[in-house]
Amino acid sequence: MSQVYLNGNWLPIEQAQVSVLDRGFIFGDGVYEVIPVYGHKPLALEDHLARLDRSLAGIAMHSPFTHKEWAGIIQQACTLEGSAQQSVYIQITRGVAPRDHAFPIGVSPTVFVMAKPMAPPPKSWLQEGVFAVTHMDFRWDCCHLKTTALLANVLLRQQAVAQGAVESVLLRAGYLTEGAASNMLVVSQGIVLTPPRNHHMLTGITLDLILRWCTKEGVSWVEGPISEQSLRAADELLMTSSTREIIPIVRLDGAPIGTGAPGPMFARLLTGYQSYK
Ligand code: PDD
Repeated sequence: MSQVYLNGNWLPIEQAQVSVLDRGFIFGDGVYEVIPVYGHKPLALEDHLARLDRSLAGIAMHSPFTHKEWAGIIQQACTLEGSAQQSVYIQITRGVAPRDHAFPIGVSPTVFVMAKPMAPPPKSWLQEGVFAVTHMDFRWDCCHLKTTALLANVLLRQQAVAQGAVESVLLRAGYLTEGAASNMLVVSQGIVLTPPRNHHMLTGITLDLILRWCTKEGVSWVEGPISEQSLRAADELLMTSSTREIIPIVRLDGAPIGTGAPGPMFARLLTGYQSYK
């Protein structure tokens, strides 16, 4: 039975309970992080904690812990869980208070941390690629914050699943933003393209690691607007996230991307990402 951290206590997940008045439950008033762990070591921990600080600041909250204290809690969660490859989930909500939209005063945040085993992406996804569908990005204007209010993302991911695909590729006003729970990389004529980092997408840590690797290895990459037309005409389309790593998308809305098979840039970037693990 795995042990989780809740408000200063370690306890079996079945016994971890929060109030029905928790603002995370009532309003989705909270933020979260997902950190991959390989060989018992969190990958890019500082980057994830820095993003957590930005998400908290974005909803007018402060981190309850220093990075050193977070590292200790995360390490403890991993040790108790035990698997070599895990994902650690952190959630902080504004706390428990009578239901009122305005912020409560003098309330402590709810802090929850759990680790669980993380299976590698299926081999067939890497060898044959996956299918995706496009969808209008109907989310709000604060997608750069990793908030727990994920209903739009849930509905968008489900649209993909309902159509036998693994991800929805989101378009806002005719331009690529990201996936329902991933970032997108487009490859065109040997160049890696990534949408502008703004409030319409989450700055993914996996994406950042891959782009850093590209810079180091001399792979050209450009950040800028990617139109629907360029998306559909791409040589390769890749999705990235902490839990799915890097996956080639070979069909979009039923039409092949490039040759319709994982391409050479995918193979290079996968090797690059493996080097961080
Ligand atoms: N989500 N964009 C969105 C909307 C996401 O939800 C995620 C990841 C990403 C990729 O970010 P990163 O590379 O830092 O994981 C981009 C996590 C995995 C989740 O919600 O479970």
